[in-house]
Amino acid sequence: MVLSTPGQRHIARRGAQVDSRTVTQRLSFGPLRSSADLEALANHESLAFNTPRDSCLSWLRATRDDVRVARAGSEVVGGLVRYDMGQFFGGRSVRNIGIAGVAISPTARGRGAAKSLMAATLNELHDAGVAVSTLYPTTFTLYGHAGYAVAGHRYRYRLPLAKLGRITATGELCRLDPGADTEQLSRLYRRLAMNRPGWLDRNEHIWERVHKHPAGRDVHGYTIPGQDGLDGYVVYTLGEVARYPYGLEIRDVQAANREAARRILALFSDCRTLARHATWYGGLDDSLLLEAPEVGTEISVAETWMLRIVDIVAAFTERGYPRGPSARLEVDVTDDVVSPNQGRWIVEIEHGAADVRRASGEAGPDVLQMDIRALASLYTGHLSARRLAELGSVQGSAVALDRAERIFAGPPPAMPDYF
Ligand SMILES: CC(C)(COP(=O)(O)OP(=O)(O)OC[C@H]1O[C@@H](n2cnc3c(N)ncnc32)[C@H](O)[C@@H]1OP(=O)(O)O)[C@@H](O)C(=O)NCCC(=O)NCCS
Repeated sequence: MVLSTPGQRHIARRGAQVDSRTVTQRLSFGPLRSSADLEALANHESLAFNTPRDSCLSWLRATRDDVRVARAGSEVVGGLVRYDMGQFFGGRSVRNIGIAGVAISPTARGRGAAKSLMAATLNELHDAGVAVSTLYPTTFTLYGHAGYAVAGHRYRYRLPLAKLGRITATGELCRLDPGADTEQLSRLYRRLAMNRPGWLDRNEHIWERVHKHPAGRDVHGYTIPGQDGLDGYVVYTLGEVARYPYGLEIRDVQAANREAARRILALFSDCRTLARHATWYGGLDDSLLLEAPEVGTEISVAETWMLRIVDIVAAFTERGYPRGPSARLEVDVTDDVVSPNQGRWIVEIEHGAADVRRASGEAGPDVLQMDIRALASLYTGHLSARRLAELGSVQGSAVALDRAERIFAGPPPAMPDYF
């Protein structure tokens, strides 16, 4: 695909200040073609994210088939990495391509390269039938232009261990064997994540982030055996090497019941002579928070994530909905980046599943009008239909707003994983 970017014209007017070779060339987008491409992108990633070049090279080699680059002529001027995974909504896994490492060379910035790279990537994903895409933005503007909207948060918990006092728990605690316990960890994670809107249906890269520290620090883990598989587990690193007191930096923690949560808190409490805090990420219904015996856990929004509806039909049909009376929603959507999403759609929901088709004929009285961004915030449950209407992002009758409120009702979305 070849796109000429409006920004190129804009920069060309400034003439002398810019690299004329790059300016006159049109941008094209696609997969890596050679190791020279990969090395060029590693340089841009390394500079953009202040990460050692070697780490960027290994990351890009591991994700090679999911890399997309922007080229000016034959020169790679930027790129991104796609993470193929799922995300849970309404108790079902929706195919989600996470976008990471968007980086453009300083020589090519400010003339629409990133915007066009995102548009090309999203159209390719739409053609492949992908339902949604998520990312952690460093700027809302760029991704807002691409049709992403703020759709949930990543919550951080910081528990001062002195506040815990001594916690006793009777349950067994076993040392985690990452090789042998992988399957059990993933089974427990999936069971608990499934009913939490926004939680990832992890792929191997996300699991690798759990078990491997990026700077190579030792990773420790413990499991709590249950009747049928595991009832809980915790994976963590300690703060800076050779320093104490330190913090317990939790990479992943799950507890299926109160006893398991208490067993994990007891482990934290047993570390409190030298550990000052435990820090972890979760949703607002966090099981450790619910079991903490005292006030004092600090909760903050560590990051905010954005979601884009890539293919309306896939996004509506792959997710689940509250069970209850059948419901019908008519939406009229504008999408100036992925044009096949544009237009009126009928969504019929029965027994917790949706059937989606294009609307024909005259619009009914209860059609909801919105752009693709508003639909993203509605879809995850981050903003309700009424709130979006108050903000002027959704227009429709009271009947239509009520329907949408019921269909997208659920706990606030959260995504504890970072990518
Ligand atoms: C952010 C980055 C990818 C933007 O690349 P770019 O090619 O210069 O961006 P574009 O020219 O396509 O800009 C698209 C839109 O985003 C906006 N934008 C670009 N860089 C921005 C920044 N640093 N802060 C805020 N908005 C920015 C532009 O203003 C433009 O919006 P507009 O059309 O309303 O003016 C590039 O600056 C970069 O590589 N930065 C370092 C790495 C990074 O932050 N990556 C994003 C990770 S999520």
